[in-house]
Amino acid sequence: MPKMTVKDIEVAGKRVLVRVDFNVPRDPKTGEITDDSRIRATLPTIKYLTERGARVILISHLGRPDGKFVNELRLTGVAQRLSQILGQQVGVATDCIGPEVEKSVAALKSKDVLLLENLRFHPDEETGSAEFAKALARLGDVFVNDAFGTSHRAHASIAGIAKYLPAVAGFLLEKEITFLGNVLENPAYPFAALVGGAKISDKVKMLERIVNKVDYLLIGGGMAATFLKAQGFEIGRSLFEADRLDIATKLLNKAGQNGIRILLCVDVVVADSIDATENQTASVTNIPANKMIVDIGPQTVAQFGEALRKCKTVFWNGPMGVYEYPQSAAGTRSMATLLAGLEATTIIGGGSTAEVVTEMGLADKMTFVSTGGGASMSFVSGEKLPGVEVLMDKKP
Ligand code: 3PG
Repeated sequence: MPKMTVKDIEVAGKRVLVRVDFNVPRDPKTGEITDDSRIRATLPTIKYLTERGARVILISHLGRPDGKFVNELRLTGVAQRLSQILGQQVGVATDCIGPEVEKSVAALKSKDVLLLENLRFHPDEETGSAEFAKALARLGDVFVNDAFGTSHRAHASIAGIAKYLPAVAGFLLEKEITFLGNVLENPAYPFAALVGGAKISDKVKMLERIVNKVDYLLIGGGMAATFLKAQGFEIGRSLFEADRLDIATKLLNKAGQNGIRILLCVDVVVADSIDATENQTASVTNIPANKMIVDIGPQTVAQFGEALRKCKTVFWNGPMGVYEYPQSAAGTRSMATLLAGLEATTIIGGGSTAEVVTEMGLADKMTFVSTGGGASMSFVSGEKLPGVEVLMDKKP
């Protein structure tokens, strides 16, 4: 990676301010952390720093409190979970800036780890305020960005602090950029992209880039309805994007010109509504007028499987159906199982795809599972991430 990392700077005895993304999924009723992958993923950086005698100050957001103090979004539970998995007590501050926090930071000893309170309790974080960034920067001697999942945001703690402190990448950020960068720039061929999720509009840039790189493009999820409609199929009451039919057609044509095999669904699971428990399988040539598509069908799963088994690299982004409902999760779960059994390099884009793979206990069977949702999509789409751009360049 062309940016400097923690390995390129002196950290012993220093106050190292580390931006992490501890925006972890929680149970809406109990607030319990349901997936701690993002916390675990930062351990290499934190341990590297403590083992070298740094004083580690972690900063993160959790949820979207809109610049207000929200009790349920305090980071106390996250600090507890980090303490357990790190095997070391992690203190938690009452705020992220101000005299009290400065006192707590001044009291830190070598190897101590302190987590500051949710950055987004301050409206200045998301507006990217220079004053807020300076107040944060005063707490450290050097800045490490290990929050890949938030690096697409030009927030004060992501893009601002680097103006006031020497700024380098953490190991998680480095790993994400390496794996997600290589998958499109240096894949082993044949290379397939399996793309799903609700809408084409969310993924236009990514699809436009991918369509120039892959041998196979497999399309499932809600967006499949728009592609099928663009090809002239009757899709019943399925939701589709009328204003994206043109783009779908252009992508299909482009794939044709590039000699890419594009696989759309041959059959689908349909139901009366998104949450209906009753459903049936239908060929795409025979979708009932009063039903909507909720998942890919078994023949599609088989065809996708046949193509993916030929590939040496597979990139997957987006669920195949309304996987939140067990009755519509079979397509997504089958794809996760299939990828887990492939010999190929398997790269899982973050967000809901990563959540499914982790929840099924298959994350270890994949080559790489990104911790970034929006960030991994922006990066794979070829966009520059503000949180990476501001870091110091490696010396030639
Ligand atoms: C994420 O979960 O994708 C990141 O933590 C960024 O969160 P945001 O979408 O609320 O900025």
